Amino acid sequence: MDTQLLSKTAAAMVAKGKGILAADESSGTCESRFRAVGVPCTEENRRAYRGLLFTTPGIERFISGVILYDETIRQKTDDGVPFAEYLAGKGIVPGIKVDKGAKPLALCPGEKVTEGLDGLRERLAEYFKLGARFAKWRAVIAIGAGLPTHACLYANAHALARYAALCQEASIVPIIEPEVLLDGAHSVERCEEVTEATLRATYAALAAYNVAVEHVILKASMVVSGKDHPRQAGVEEVAERTVRVLKRTVPAAQPGIVFLSGGQSDIAATAHLNAMAAMKGLPWPLTFSYSRALQNAALQTWRGEAANVAAAQKAFYHRAHMNALAAQGKWKPELEKQAA
Ligand code: 13P
Repeated sequence: MDTQLLSKTAAAMVAKGKGILAADESSGTCESRFRAVGVPCTEENRRAYRGLLFTTPGIERFISGVILYDETIRQKTDDGVPFAEYLAGKGIVPGIKVDKGAKPLALCPGEKVTEGLDGLRERLAEYFKLGARFAKWRAVIAIGAGLPTHACLYANAHALARYAALCQEASIVPIIEPEVLLDGAHSVERCEEVTEATLRATYAALAAYNVAVEHVILKASMVVSGKDHPRQAGVEEVAERTVRVLKRTVPAAQPGIVFLSGGQSDIAATAHLNAMAAMKGLPWPLTFSYSRALQNAALQTWRGEAANVAAAQKAFYHRAHMNALAAQGKWKPELEKQAA
């Protein structure tokens, strides 16, 4: 375990004014995103699309790291350079999704546990050789009548902690992502309660498995109203509730917190991050690790056409720029009008 490398990687991931691009959609998730814009989900199209994002000129100004998928870390640019090597050459840290997805949790109807611990030590050793310096594991927590159960929180926290320990052993910084889903008709108060319980369970498990919080990055979901709740909390309320929960649960020793977008609109994800990052006296830097909120505009512009690549890159560059400003509390809605 190279603790100096772990510290260096974690600091680079949350460097000021930058954030992380999540480009680790599984082939199944890619299938539904591509279908929505009429692009066949072939391996070559997935490579071409990821290449479009990664080779966007100047993106290293705003992007500190990219989360790759197993297929993607083995793919190359049009010029034949492995993606991980290409990104590292631009000063962007390559990362890798290592979980094998959320599967139904036995005896807990409606709940899931993330799998992928078996053989993980060997897979991490290979990913390190392929250039990955951080990893991601996503747990999903659903809110509903009687949900989440203690079993669901406990099982997912345990898996996140075992994953994080294996990553640190392999000198790879673990991103732990316990995502509280926004689907449902629950209130923002209920989301706050569940987010707090989820993070408490997660950090208790990290401590139980000797994981050093100095070398962990939390990928958090924001405290928002359930998608179908009649009252949708505003930007300031989301920011206040989210930061309150994080302050209660996340050790100050942790190098940083990144957020997922979770199905929020592009602008909402930017506005929420901006409101939180503008708060004074936080013990950790806050930034983004978005997939949809960084990629939606680019994917809709690209639509699988080579002729649209430059315009799609422009759209991606713009969202990355806006979120990089938001991570410093410097974003304003007027800045969106300067888009293409
Ligand atoms: P979204 O930003 O689209 O929620 O994706 C982030 C992510 O990496 C989910 O695991």
